[in-house]
Amino acid sequence: MKRSQREEKRFARLEIEGKVLDLPIIEGTEGEKALDISRLRREIGYITYDPGYADTASCTSSITYVDGENGILRYRGYDIDELTARGVKFIPTAWLLIFGELPTTDEREKFRELLTTQELLHEGMLKFFDSLPPHGDPMAILSAAVQCSSLYNPEFRSLEPHDTETTMVVAAKLLSKVRTIAAFSYKKAIGEPFVYPNPELDYCSNFLHMMYSIPNRIYQAPRMVSDTLNLFLVLHADHEQNCSTSTVRIVGSTKANLFDSVSAGISALSGPLHGGANIEVVRMLEKINNKETTVHALVESVKKPEKSKDRVRLSGFGHRIYKNYDPRARILKKEVCKLLRSMGERDPLLDVAIELEETALQDSFFQENRIFPNVDFYSGLLLRAIKIPLNMFTVMFAIARTAGWIAQWREEELDPSSRLQRPRQIYVGPSQRNCPI
Ligand code: CMC
Repeated sequence: MKRSQREEKRFARLEIEGKVLDLPIIEGTEGEKALDISRLRREIGYITYDPGYADTASCTSSITYVDGENGILRYRGYDIDELTARGVKFIPTAWLLIFGELPTTDEREKFRELLTTQELLHEGMLKFFDSLPPHGDPMAILSAAVQCSSLYNPEFRSLEPHDTETTMVVAAKLLSKVRTIAAFSYKKAIGEPFVYPNPELDYCSNFLHMMYSIPNRIYQAPRMVSDTLNLFLVLHADHEQNCSTSTVRIVGSTKANLFDSVSAGISALSGPLHGGANIEVVRMLEKINNKETTVHALVESVKKPEKSKDRVRLSGFGHRIYKNYDPRARILKKEVCKLLRSMGERDPLLDVAIELEETALQDSFFQENRIFPNVDFYSGLLLRAIKIPLNMFTVMFAIARTAGWIAQWREEELDPSSRLQRPRQIYVGPSQRNCPI
């Protein structure tokens, strides 16, 4: 077996300055090919240069597959379209990502109980919230609170990833607590009392209860609203080695614990080029709607010369991997239209978004650069439809992505070939010189 595998191994020959190196070709399940350059520096003294790691794989992974050319996204082999069409909820999706298979009925029940027992924050955390300024950025609060909450259970800060039982508890703890922290940070920002989780409610209804109930008026989320939130969370649950996930893996590669790694991932997600784009999209659409700019002006300003201060990037457009319509954006667009129709509501920003999309997609700049709407283009409109406040949009993304971060952190921990992640650089600063003082 081993012999035939060796015989089948293919190489790409690199010849440089009279030295020859055969680089092994690695092929993924779906036929994606890569050159293994791990012997490059040792054997011929070269490194590779790839700003932003656009053409660099940092690991092998069996969690999520993205085919950007054809607009395909799969979790553990299941198409995102199929998972959402069949109404698979967020928690089974999180389980699928973390443990590799959809949960059995027993596993589902056990995990549900764990999520319930882990949903409360330690009362000491109330002082943490008290110490925050009003209107603090919910993403900064989430990142700090995730680390802080783990201090109350130091035993979980040294999770042994081979221990599946404890992994289950820690996964439940993190998934459950990010939801409670997110709702508490919202309540803190608007000056309302915290509402404790209700163990009778499912994951999404419970979050909406903690967000919108007040002590003298209990909010019960309509089924349609909690289903929509579930769909949002499923679509955002993982997306292979994106910036925040790579951050989680980089931090995790130092053997930092899961909580600290996820906290770093939340910070990475907050930027406007990544998860923060869902807020920027709505701000951009509002500007058009308020007549501060027009669709035409925006699309034209994208094409301004590189150095021009008027050159803009359309938030919610473009993607490092997708050179086709992002499948998540397609599903979100359909859902937001359906939801608003069934609620008998209209969002003027949706009309603006559709006009902007149509104008951009007919424009040769967008066609030539293959720039399409990404997940963030319609996700904010969906969150608006279910009345999530704007400053919480990226937090909603983070709640969902926690599932992927746990799965990816664990995969890295379990992979015997994973190493401390530490890229190289090409130094271009001054050569050695004498200090004048
Ligand atoms: N608007 C206008 N031009 C764009 C856009 C855009 N949204 N995206 C890419 N381009 C152009 C860009 O100007 C560049 O042209 P040139 O080579 O002449 O400078 C070309 O397309 C390639 O862009 P790039 O920045 O090299 O591509 P990238 O893969 O590094 O960038 C991106 C990916 C997501 C950072 C970028 O598309 C972008 O800034 N989009 C807007 C922010 C956004 O929506 N982010 C959410 C991404 S999806 C969810 C997530 O991962 O969080």
